[in-house]
Amino acid sequence: MDMPIPQTKLADPKECGHVTLIDHANDKQYELPVLEGSEGPNVIDVQKLYRDTGYFTYDPGYTSTGSCNSQLTFIDGEKGILRHRGYAIEELAEKSDYLEVCFLLLYGELPTAAQKAEFGREITYHTMVHEQLQYFYRGFRRDAHPMAVMVGVVGALSAFYHESTDIHDLEKRRLATHQLIAKMPTLAAMTYKYSIGQPFIYPRNDLPYSENFLYMTFSVPSEEYKINPVLSRAMDRIFILHADHEQNASTSTVRIAGSSGANPFACIAAGIASLWGPAHGGANQAVLAMLREIGSKDRIPEFIKRAKDKDDPFRLMGFGHRVYKNYDPRAAILRESTHEVLDEVGVKDEPLLDLAIELERIALEDDYFVERKLFPNVDFYSGITLKAMGFPESMFTPLFALGRTAGWIAQWKEMIKDPHQRIGRPRQLFTGPTLRPFVPIEKRS
Ligand code: CMC
Repeated sequence: MDMPIPQTKLADPKECGHVTLIDHANDKQYELPVLEGSEGPNVIDVQKLYRDTGYFTYDPGYTSTGSCNSQLTFIDGEKGILRHRGYAIEELAEKSDYLEVCFLLLYGELPTAAQKAEFGREITYHTMVHEQLQYFYRGFRRDAHPMAVMVGVVGALSAFYHESTDIHDLEKRRLATHQLIAKMPTLAAMTYKYSIGQPFIYPRNDLPYSENFLYMTFSVPSEEYKINPVLSRAMDRIFILHADHEQNASTSTVRIAGSSGANPFACIAAGIASLWGPAHGGANQAVLAMLREIGSKDRIPEFIKRAKDKDDPFRLMGFGHRVYKNYDPRAAILRESTHEVLDEVGVKDEPLLDLAIELERIALEDDYFVERKLFPNVDFYSGITLKAMGFPESMFTPLFALGRTAGWIAQWKEMIKDPHQRIGRPRQLFTGPTLRPFVPIEKRS
């Protein structure tokens, strides 16, 4: 970009007190600093814990562990609050657009009109992908899961755009960031086209971001494609709602991959791999599979019973969240969009939507779900909306990845600039065998 763009600087964490750790076994006492941020719970600084005490902390799943200092996204899970750089997700979804939210996440402020125009031009400029990438696609089976293809092609960007992999050069970092946001829709659309055997459609740079994505996905060279503004608005909103969500599994994967100095394309490919799992981004596809398996309203109690049974691995997909112990604000927004999209495409009665609403109603009244604060999450309604828009279920998680790219790359950028950043390297509690002599093969039983 030609014009100077705002730079963000991480604030140094402020110390606001101490907690005392009493080691009764060794009759010792340690003072641990407590740090405060601008919002949210204070944290106990355990960075020097091992050096000073000889102890590690133990926290599988990192339920109580802050892994970084960040200024991007704030979540209050108890109250159902999600904000990016201080702006409420409800306002962003209503009044902004995805590219503005990308700018906000990357550069800390909503863009001025001039910045927005220039950022849009810059992203547009990078929408095409290297022609050779087409041949890379052809190495995949047509029936490969789109997420498998996305992991491959996004990782391969580091081979096609090698000049952008120098993470120590600010301009190259910026270039890689913009290339990823620009090329992700092209790659996702190509993935879809490849899976159905239709020709790849080149981007049209006169179209806004989400419209261009729908055009590349649904148009064919032989016919004129008319973009439906209700659907492109819904698409843009879905991208906004998925743009960032602080230190979730895939974002933490991106950060930890990047902490070793790996290039941004490789890090985002790692994030895509992590997102694929059904407990994370794969849940949107799993929700529809579950609704179909339930089949009819009269079978809901049977599935609720299964979800509560600890001996049954079945879980209600699209319910529960590590952080939200309240209605996921993204699900509330999407619930509205689902109705708008269904009205627009003329689906008067979508049986899966009726089923979803009934399932939600029953689950929200059930003691098991109420006690555990298990509410619908973003994936509960996104699948129904995307299905109505014409996407096959296997594309749901790639669309999540497309939207989340903004957050992944903004978090990566923030980490690279953090003066306190070190390689991510958790410790462990070892419970395996201690030293024992090697047993020759003839003596093994
Ligand atoms: N159905 C039935 N029981 C559940 C569910 C569910 N969907 N989610 C959590 N529980 C129970 C769980 O069995 C546990 O019960 P208990 O205390 O009796 O052992 C309790 O609720 C707490 O669950 P947890 O597994 O300790 O919670 P977690 O924070 O480790 O897991 C989760 C969060 C999202 C992985 C989980 O709720 C889940 O598997 N949900 C279904 C998958 C899903 O919808 N994922 C999308 C998440 S939102 C999009 C994203 O960010 O990726």
